[in-house]
Amino acid sequence: MSDSIKSIDELSLEGTTTFIRVDFNVPLKDGRVTDDTRIQAALPTIRYALEQGARLVLASHLGRPKGKVVPSMSLEPVGARLAELLDDEVRLTDDCVGDGARKVVQDLRDGQVALLENVRFHPGEKSNDVDFARELGAGCGAYVNDAFGSAHRAHASVSALPRLIEKRAAGFLLQRELEVLSRLRDDAARPYLAVLGGAKVSDKIGVMEALLQKVDALLVGGAMANTFLAARGLDVGKSLCETDKLAVARSLMKSAEDAKVDLLLPIDVRSGSSVEDGNAQVVDVEHIPAEAMALDIGPETEKLFRDRLRLGQSIFWNGPMGLFENAAFAEGTLAVARAVGDCPGFSVVGGGDSVAAVMQAGLADRYDHVSTGGGASLEYLEGRTLPGVEALKP
Ligand code: 3PG
Repeated sequence: MSDSIKSIDELSLEGTTTFIRVDFNVPLKDGRVTDDTRIQAALPTIRYALEQGARLVLASHLGRPKGKVVPSMSLEPVGARLAELLDDEVRLTDDCVGDGARKVVQDLRDGQVALLENVRFHPGEKSNDVDFARELGAGCGAYVNDAFGSAHRAHASVSALPRLIEKRAAGFLLQRELEVLSRLRDDAARPYLAVLGGAKVSDKIGVMEALLQKVDALLVGGAMANTFLAARGLDVGKSLCETDKLAVARSLMKSAEDAKVDLLLPIDVRSGSSVEDGNAQVVDVEHIPAEAMALDIGPETEKLFRDRLRLGQSIFWNGPMGLFENAAFAEGTLAVARAVGDCPGFSVVGGGDSVAAVMQAGLADRYDHVSTGGGASLEYLEGRTLPGVEALKP
């Protein structure tokens, strides 16, 4: 790997208790995992380490329990799903640190797997506490990071712990994510197009500024587009709109103009009276009724985006085009999922709802890469260093 970060296959793992930080932050419903993409994505690394005769200690966060035990955020259902996928026992510890966890780790034999309970049940995880990290990694002789989705978090299991273990490396998933995203960041074939959606401009300012220096066109949908439309002087009715970010939106539009990048905004929207509305009304953006909310891009915008996406040699997509969780406002996101999938160029999607749309439409195999990282992929493309990657360096 670059920057002299080792790959897992450069470590000798036989008989070594190996800590693997995975990102098993997966959706759950009624005590079951509803989308196991992230678990599946870590399997090559897990299987490889097991074949080498390692004793595996897997660790992940799930949700944001704020340093306290929240039973609904237990990794128990994840352990059950992982055991099914590995067709082997997965020993879930009652806590990620303490006597119980230590005993489970000590008793591991070569080729066996333990899964530590949610690391975010302790405040030391988020505060990157070195003493907590030391406890977490007690008895481990090697550390592997395969949690790309969490690599942008300077948390104990991602940042402090690897620095305490000399034998450390990147897993196969982390390596593949960095390889694909660095191709987009440093060497994207042109035309390079980016599609951004989601609720807030404020979450995407950094990445938009960075992308405007690299892409040929930036296509914006989702509620964040409302802020741009309002900044252009349009009335967006009751739509979600960050009125305190209008100046930022104007300055991003000016940067796009200066960089000669086409910034494509919706020309029509599907609107509703509330987020629960089951009936979408198509209106052009000049005529959004005062009582209505723009909740998805409209069919003309789908066409505008599709015609542009067809020309892309490289495409990066992050964020839904509308209120994807309500079927009445999911069509724009699904249309973009199809359009990016149909593009003959190099296509990459990242982020919860956009990836869910790709999966729901059964289009994953039409993409060159489906990233397991939302925030992490954005920070990487923005050019920021990822603490989880930094900590693997010698
Ligand atoms: C994600 O789902 O993007 C990662 O697991 C990181 O989760 P976080 O945003 O709660 O840190």
